[in-house]
Amino acid sequence: MSGEVSISGAKNAAVAIIPAAVFAEGPCVIENVPTEISDVSVILRILSDLGAEVKMLNKNTLRIDCTRVHKTVVPYELARQMRASYYMLGALLGRFHTAEVSMPGGCNFGVRPIDQHLKGFKALGAEWSLENGMINVSADRLVGSQVYFDMVTVGATINVMLAAVKAEGLTVIENAAKEPHIVDLANFLNSMGADIMGAGTDTIKIHGVEHLHGTTYAIIPDQIEAGTYMAATAATHGDVIIKNVIPKHLESITARLRKMGVEVTEYDDSVRVTCNGPLTKTNVKTMPHPGFPTDMQPQITALLTLAEGTSIVTEGIWDNRFRYVDELMRMGADISVDGRVAVVEGTGKLIAAPVKATDLRAGAAMVIAALAAEGTSQIEDIEHIERGYEEIELKLRRLGAQIKKIVIPDATTAAKAL
Ligand code: EPU
Repeated sequence: MSGEVSISGAKNAAVAIIPAAVFAEGPCVIENVPTEISDVSVILRILSDLGAEVKMLNKNTLRIDCTRVHKTVVPYELARQMRASYYMLGALLGRFHTAEVSMPGGCNFGVRPIDQHLKGFKALGAEWSLENGMINVSADRLVGSQVYFDMVTVGATINVMLAAVKAEGLTVIENAAKEPHIVDLANFLNSMGADIMGAGTDTIKIHGVEHLHGTTYAIIPDQIEAGTYMAATAATHGDVIIKNVIPKHLESITARLRKMGVEVTEYDDSVRVTCNGPLTKTNVKTMPHPGFPTDMQPQITALLTLAEGTSIVTEGIWDNRFRYVDELMRMGADISVDGRVAVVEGTGKLIAAPVKATDLRAGAAMVIAALAAEGTSQIEDIEHIERGYEEIELKLRRLGAQIKKIVIPDATTAAKAL
């Protein structure tokens, strides 16, 4: 692969910032929104269903006016399609003191509890109940409080930040997640008049305010999309300039790639990745930010199968995030998994095969493996990939990849047509 690719706005920031627009007493203009990915379409459909006016000003800029939002129940059919639908709990609770959302969907990598979210809401004075798969939270008053998370959790940090933004007094979140999208959400809310300090550290202080106003705000570039193109470049021994990135957000990925013998040059808002020689083994352990991101674990594992020697990949966040390994093995990879640890015997090459995208980042790993493999691979269930990668087919093709999306009519439609 060679050439230049421009990175879209961050999915995991967009799916938190869009619900936060609920607080604005006036329109918000949000730029750099990855509008073509399905998780963003779903969260926008949820807001529209609740009564928001959503207008596309151009391909990546939205005008969202939530003044007329009146409903506080998120339809099951929409909520179950994505994990981040549960940010509507924090946002609606924060604005209306009541919210009802179904237990969320999203990628399946083991049990994904929400006890820390509920613990945080409770600390602010809310009650919660679960009925028919719907979580209901409500409060007479929301009062600032001390919230200590038992583990570092991105979702609960965001949800409690949302619920606390208009609560009376001071909320202090301890053991908060520090991911770039946490900082982005805090910056967005502050640009609307919120008073949030410390986002990006493990203590976030939120002084509740009475009113938040409309704003214009640009979402940060997607760290994981950038990392995926970095890994794909290395896998194909390419030379690619990856534009519209914040190199600081990529540091842990850059460090691992350099360890593998990949050259990464950082500029102000781009990185150049070049890979000329063989890839060398390295060990990787995923950790909360600023550690190596779990959302890059499948992609780096795919890359390590192409390296020389044995690498150990340890998953530090999720119980079951190696489901895709069987698919890589169909392409000739030699990997053994024991719980949260995978031992990758680098074979230096992969062979094309029909494979499945078992979840979003696993799908990205299949794309990387297929680009590097000898022959033509077919990846099924690409709807997972479309949840998080904007125009992946187009972006890769421009870099010289031979990739084509094929729509196979589903069997029942085909049968009816006969
Ligand atoms: N956890 C609990 N209780 C909770 C919340 C979390 O036990 O109430 C545990 C989880 O089971 C997990 C750990 O805490 O073991 C971390 O979970 P976290 O809450 O941080 O994850 P999340 O908010 O559900 C977000 C991203 C994921 C990413 C993780 C970790 C979004 C929409 N999703 O999930 O992204 O893997 O943080 O960084 O922001 C992806 O984009 O592919 C993706 C899955």
